[in-house]
Amino acid sequence: MSTISKKIGVTDAEQSKNILNDRKVMTVPDFRARKGTQPLVCLTAYTAHVAHLVDAEADMILVGDSLGMVIHGMPNTLGVTIEHMIMHGQAVVRGAQKALVVVDMPFGSYEESPEVAFRNASRIIKETGCTAVKLEGGQEMASTIQHLAARGIPVMAHVGLMPQQMNTAGGFKAVRDEDSWQAVILDAKAVEAAGAFSVVIEGVAEELAQKITKSILIPTIGIGASAHCDGQILVFEDMIGLFPRVPTFVKRYGNMEEMMINAINRYSSEVRDRSFPAAEHTYKPKKN
Ligand code: KIV
Repeated sequence: MSTISKKIGVTDAEQSKNILNDRKVMTVPDFRARKGTQPLVCLTAYTAHVAHLVDAEADMILVGDSLGMVIHGMPNTLGVTIEHMIMHGQAVVRGAQKALVVVDMPFGSYEESPEVAFRNASRIIKETGCTAVKLEGGQEMASTIQHLAARGIPVMAHVGLMPQQMNTAGGFKAVRDEDSWQAVILDAKAVEAAGAFSVVIEGVAEELAQKITKSILIPTIGIGASAHCDGQILVFEDMIGLFPRVPTFVKRYGNMEEMMINAINRYSSEVRDRSFPAAEHTYKPKKN
């Protein structure tokens, strides 16, 4: 990774832009080495072209199991299969050049045993060409993370609000109550000790995210976990305003839904009044 040195007369924003434009292909050790330095920019992507667009800025692209909800219309992530993850993972790997591509392990594909997890994680890596997998869980998943990491599979962990545990938690519940903080700190420490190269912290109180970030040596990637994390991730569709749900932690950087509705309305009225297709969209006879 290039050394970050401040150039005279260059603003912080310009400096970050130059670092990103000069950047090389992101490896797992590079990602890990960003702990406590330049914030890590992470986004989800599920298609090749979106991956290509995101790749221009992001350090990491996650093919998250949130695709079940934002792409396939499921009510939660529990119905997502390995086949879904592989199909979208392949598309994203085709579109990304520099960012680290991480693919989520879906519910039911890793919890049974470290051996089952290895079989499914290695299949995801072989069939998609991604670099790493992500799985949800803390202390209870430590032996699985250790098993994978020791066998050549880089693992990003995911603690705090774990969407795959929504049925036991009674919904998507942020961790705000101070009584539950210690368990999340122990989870983060356990996944670090097991060999995870990074950890997503989802839906936790600001002070808790800060405590975790200070107490472990791997980068924390926050989603609803404050600016104290080493990086941030958002679901792409949430970020561009293409999904109706807007949880507290989502900032919409665009309103694609409005643009799409506008385009659909204009298209349908032009088809109805026959102003589309116009002459410039129409083939003329070829004269020999
Ligand atoms: O599935 C997903 O998109 C995720 C992010 C929310 C971190 O796990």
